[in-house]
Order: sequence, then structure tokens, then C-alpha cells
Amino acid sequence: MAIDTNRFQAIISHCKEYGFIFPSSEIYDGLAAVYDYGQWGSELKKNIKDYWWKSMVQMNENIVGIDASIFMHPTTWKASGHVDNFSDPMIDNKDSKKRYRVDHLLEAKADELEKEGKPEQSDILLKEMDTLLAANDFVGLKKLIENNKIVCSVSGTGNWTDVRQFNLMFSTQMGSVSDESDTIYLRPETAQGIFVNFLNVQKTGRLKIPFGIAQTGKAFRNEIVARQFIFRMREFEQMEMQFFIRPGTQKEWYAYWKEERMKWHLSLGISPDKYRFHDHVKLAHYADAACDIEYNFPIGFKEVEGIHSRTDFDLRNHQEYSKKKMQYFDNELNQNYIPYVIETSIGLDRTVLMVLSEAYEEQDLSTADKKDSRVVLKFPPKLAPLKLAILPLVKKDGLPEIAREIMNDCKPYFRCFYEEKDTIGKRYRRMDAIGTPYCVTVDHQTKEDQTVTIRYRDTMQQERIPITQVKSKVLESII
Ligand code: GAP
Repeated sequence: MAIDTNRFQAIISHCKEYGFIFPSSEIYDGLAAVYDYGQWGSELKKNIKDYWWKSMVQMNENIVGIDASIFMHPTTWKASGHVDNFSDPMIDNKDSKKRYRVDHLLEAKADELEKEGKPEQSDILLKEMDTLLAANDFVGLKKLIENNKIVCSVSGTGNWTDVRQFNLMFSTQMGSVSDESDTIYLRPETAQGIFVNFLNVQKTGRLKIPFGIAQTGKAFRNEIVARQFIFRMREFEQMEMQFFIRPGTQKEWYAYWKEERMKWHLSLGISPDKYRFHDHVKLAHYADAACDIEYNFPIGFKEVEGIHSRTDFDLRNHQEYSKKKMQYFDNELNQNYIPYVIETSIGLDRTVLMVLSEAYEEQDLSTADKKDSRVVLKFPPKLAPLKLAILPLVKKDGLPEIAREIMNDCKPYFRCFYEEKDTIGKRYRRMDAIGTPYCVTVDHQTKEDQTVTIRYRDTMQQERIPITQVKSKVLESII
């Protein structure tokens, strides 16, 4: 596991400096593990979300999308098992009073061993942790922490409490008077909005199994260890799809969605060796099989997406708690049943971080006569926040007017940017730093022959093309 902390820090700084991601409410020193997307970050995030929606909903005739509320009836979370089971084993340091997730403490130790050139010991530690977690052996987990001499990063001591479970859901009150019965939760996953609407959508859409329901939206978790930028946030966004199938067919559909989702990741132009599957040893309370798609971030291989075979756990429990039938009548089998579900669940913010990590490049462009460098974000054009920058060479001689005409012609089709300040070289570099794949420069020759110079971000090569070809050239690369 190659970890490149410097690269990770450089990406975080770049995101702040160039308007991608800021700490939330920064003027008040920020809020831990909460971030805001700036002008380019929000465009990037939206483009990723749209690409996911297009691949999952538009391209699959048997998948539809919904947009359910964040607030749901509190019984939803009893039925889903989140009130009783959505917790992580935690341990507190008695001296600093700081609380840690047990698996994060042990994983950090495993990373440390790896960095010290002890990969076997690191592997053994992770395997022991997996076994103890799967067995809910809290005494064993505490021993493992102590035996590995893990200390608190604040107090520096190994003075630990026992390991205990803590629920990760945020709760709040609905209505003006606070009362136990009014306690509602901020949803920790978007999936339940799909389950409770399963019959509404199936009936009104006259959908036949197998079919899927997709949605994107915010989720909230009171993460204890949350210090990895947008990798682990307390408020984040998910893109989830629940695929409803006949009971007994879950193995095939699980394999199908594993393959499909990996194809989607590779379609982002990311090389296969940057990904791996990780099968879960300790299954979530709802799953009979589950795996993660992990990407090799600068902080090592980590989960971007989960694929879960959720059986009929959710629908069966909603049927039990709501006393409403959650069954589907299968015409072909002439039979009623509660469908089984395969879920694909990808974190939008983690995907943003993955795309940023993949795109970020520091290049030394020095020549014998001149020192030079640039930072370029090599986003796939379809994901880039801006597709085209339109730059008049000078602010006079009618060049801005021509540039404005190109801008007006292109802006209904894709996001463009117009700029006339500074030298053309400086403007190119600014566009490289936010990942704009194309820049066109309008110069004096444009007035004579109606051509412009188009510059390609990745190669920095330039060519002259007729103005009439600009729009189609960009459009071809973003469809
Ligand atoms: N409905 C299933 C579910 O929520 P999960 O594995 O807990 O499964 C799915 O979450 C995805 O959501 C993860 O693969 C990850 O990308 C994203 N995610 C989970 N917790 C997150 C957090 N605290 N910050 C950012 N993304 C998170």
C-alpha cells in the first residue's frame, strides 16, 4: 500500500486555492469533517453525479430514479436495523478523553508497519482485526490494541477504556416541543427512501422484476475519526441503486452488478491496477454477501463503492413494522413474494476525491534557458468543471467582440469561460490548474480568416481551426 501524504496534502491545498473545496464555515475555524464545494468543485461534483445518473438510469431501461426526503418516519430506522445495529466499536483514551474507532486505530497501525517495511506483520494485524470484528470480540480487540502498543495521538498514552458500541446516526427533534417520540434521524443512507417507496414506484411505473430504483442525495453519519478531507465526512452524498430481483437469483445478480460497476469505474479512464475488490468478512446487519470497490488513493487503497446483496431484509422488516404488504406479484411464476435486493452504493464525495487524485499532476517544464512548471488537472472532458475557455489575445481591435460571439454560440451547450486579463500564458496555466480541456485564442488572424487557435490541456499542443468547428469539437469529446 503506497501512501503519499505529500501528494494528498498538495491536492487538499490545490482544491482550496483554486475554488474546488473549502472547509465549512471557515471564518469560524471550520467544522470538523464538513466541507463546502466551491465554484469548480460543485461543477465537478455535478458532472460526476450526472454521469452516474446517465449510466444507471438513462442507459438502463429497467431502472428509474426518485428523490426521497432526508427526514423519514423514525420507525424506518427501527425497521432498517440502524437504531440497534448502526454502530461501530469505539475506544476512549482516558487521559485525552479522545474517542477512536477501533478499526481505524488498528488500520493506522497496520499502515505504520507497512511504511516501516513490515508488510507481513501489517497483514497479520489486519487479519486478526477482521476475525475479532466478525466475532464482535470487544475484549480481544482491546487486547490487540494493547499488544500492539497503540497510543493516543493526543495524550501519547495507552490508557484505554473498554471497547464499546456507539451509534452513528444524528438525531434531532421535529416540532416545537422536544419530546422523546418526536426524535427523528438524519438519514445515514439514502437506500431506505427507496425501500419505503418500493411499491409506490413499482405500481405507478408498472415495473416488472428485475428492476431498479436509483437516487442520489445527502446522508449523515457522526463519524468519530473524520480527518481524511472529503474521504470521511459527517455530511456527504451517496448515489445508490436498489435492484429488485426474484429470491434465489441473488448470486447471479450480485456478480452482474460487481462487473457492471467495475466497468463504470474503468470508463472514467482510470487504469484497472488502481482498483481492487475487497470482500467483506464482517457483513453489515442486512447483507448475505458484500464487497467494496477500492481505489488506490494517495492515502492507500480505500473503499469508494459498496455492492451488497441485501436479501429481503429491508422490505421484510418494513412490512413487519408498518403492517403494510411489501410483496410483488410475479405474473410469470403466478406467485407473490418479497423481492430480494442487490444494492450498488457509491459515495459521491469519495468519487470526487478519486477523480481529483487521478487528475492531479505536477509537471516540470523547465528548459535549458528557463525554469518552468505547472499543475494540471487531467480530468476526462465529460467531468471537467469547464469545457472551454475563450480568450481574446488582446483587449482591443475587435477581438473581445469575436470571442464573445463564440462564447454566446457555445454556452447553451456546455460550460464555457471568458477571460481577457493577463498574458495568454498565465491564462492557459490558470485553466490547466482547474482542468479545462480546451482553450481557444482569438487573435488578429481570426479577423482575416475566421480561424482560432485551439490549445489542448494535456499535450499543450495548439492548432488552428475554423471558428465553425469549435463547438462540435468540444461536444464530440463530452458526450
Ligand atoms: N446503503 C449502503 C451504504 O450506505 P456504506 O458502505 O455504508 O453502504 C456506501 O456506504 C458508500 O458511501 C461508501 O462506499 C462510501 O463511498 C460512502 N460513504 C460512507 N460513509 C461516508 C463518509 N463518512 N464520508 C464520505 N463518504 C462516505
